[in-house]
Amino acid sequence: MDLNEQELTRRLTGKTIGGAVHFFPEVDSTNDAAFRLAMSGADEGTVVVADAQSGGKGRLKRRWQSPPGCNLYTSIVLRPPVKPAAASQITLVAGVALAEFISHYCPGDVNLKWPNDVLIRGKKVCGILTEMKTTGGDIEFIIAGIGVNLNMKRSAFDETLRQTATSLREEMGREISRLNFTVGMYDTLERFYDVFVREGFSPVRDIWLRYAAGLRKQVRVVFGSEVLEGEMVGLDGDGALLVQDWSMAIKRVIAGDASLGEG
Ligand code: BTN
Repeated sequence: MDLNEQELTRRLTGKTIGGAVHFFPEVDSTNDAAFRLAMSGADEGTVVVADAQSGGKGRLKRRWQSPPGCNLYTSIVLRPPVKPAAASQITLVAGVALAEFISHYCPGDVNLKWPNDVLIRGKKVCGILTEMKTTGGDIEFIIAGIGVNLNMKRSAFDETLRQTATSLREEMGREISRLNFTVGMYDTLERFYDVFVREGFSPVRDIWLRYAAGLRKQVRVVFGSEVLEGEMVGLDGDGALLVQDWSMAIKRVIAGDASLGEG
């Protein structure tokens, strides 16, 4: 059975994440739809799912390819009891949940590339875009947007992405049930989100580091016109990337685009 609102609602009854489901055959961006719902008071755990997006958004103002009938595009309304400075940790929580869940399909082949890319055998299968609304120094809500390439064929990827992106189907050689994937992924996300809310970022950070691609390797982080090169040495307690530069100084990076080198 393919993704549909009725079946998603039935299978998610009683859950926090997925407690309310809004399904669209096509929407501009599930993040934008979830943002609108959250502005009108949608509860924590409300999810938006679309078969296709006409304006799928990636990080750093990139486009997210969102054709119909093959992938998962979803956004989740979260209202975490933390300060805005901790919001970037939510992206890492989602990354860990996705890495853990996708590992059930491809054990041993999954990595995380800071801050949010989930990779299978080095190719990107999933991206996460979190957006936040604050009021008076507090988080009003966070929208966690998740795109997973499930059944997209290699030939359907933009040519510029074919070497660096993949889908679960391409890696596994079989069709993946979007419905089962979606329900299982929400369940895993709910588990890690609960750990984060109850125990803080530290246990999530430990798991993130187990999946980290490029630990102790050369990394180049670009943010606007700034470029930092050095060895990736870890994540700090707030989720910032730690990079040791040529002078052996440890620099904290809170935003940017990382590319991994050799050595
Ligand atoms: C990235 O890696 O650049 C983040 C990609 C995030 C894509 C998802 S698809 C569902 C949600 N809606 C969007 O418009 N973007 C996110």
